[in-house]
Amino acid sequence: MKLSSLLSLSLPLLATAQTAAPYTDAKSGITFNAYVTSNYFFGLALPENATGSDFIGTIGGKGTGWSGASLGGQMRNKLLVLSWPNAQAVLSSFRKTAQYGSPAVATGTFTQTPIANGTYVNSTHWTYTFLCSNCIQTDGTTFKSSDTTASIGFAFSATAPTQKTNAGSAVSKHTSQGLVTFDLTKAKNANFATWKSWAAPKVARGFEA
Ligand code: HEM
Repeated sequence: MKLSSLLSLSLPLLATAQTAAPYTDAKSGITFNAYVTSNYFFGLALPENATGSDFIGTIGGKGTGWSGASLGGQMRNKLLVLSWPNAQAVLSSFRKTAQYGSPAVATGTFTQTPIANGTYVNSTHWTYTFLCSNCIQTDGTTFKSSDTTASIGFAFSATAPTQKTNAGSAVSKHTSQGLVTFDLTKAKNANFATWKSWAAPKVARGFEA
């Protein structure tokens, strides 16, 4: 193969290198540092003086499958967020597992509260934006607030969960997964407090966003 065709083959690969970049959600206007592909995205926003344990996350994808993120990079023994669309709603939960397999729902002091103007399902994709309170842990299950870079795990599947109306449903294995380096300094934003104030639970819907 000629060098020119090798180059043209490798350029698209370079374009999808696994690092996060700035991304602003069209509806909410919230700016994230995000890993975005044509099938999946996950983004983080942090306060300017990021010493707390909260962040704003956005996760989404295409179609009716699920998207997941590991706040500690690896799948096992880390705090996971697992979300999927159901008609016009999005369901989400925290998960944790010691083994490779459908991760169980995780409980702790961490909570996720939807931000409505950044949570929607449209003809091209679904998006769930949430305030993740007490999510930055100090037990090694997530990145730390003092980190300047974080390794975040991504995973997704085009197959809908077995019980897609139950946020605790089992899921089948991802068809794509890996690690992405996030520059946390680029996730910091002076508007964090304003965006955080938009988070509000949906009444009587449990985990459903
Ligand atoms: C039945 C469900 C699942 C099975 C059987 C499974 C299995 C595995 C296996 C075997 C690997 C190692 C790489 C490979 O061999 O492909 C892996 C990696 C990974 N999984 Fe899962 N997984 C499941 C669900 C999930 C979910 C729901 C998430 C996130 C919410 C997730 C996140 C990851 C990530 C980030 C990696 C890459 C980092 C690592 O290797 O630890 N997985 N998974």
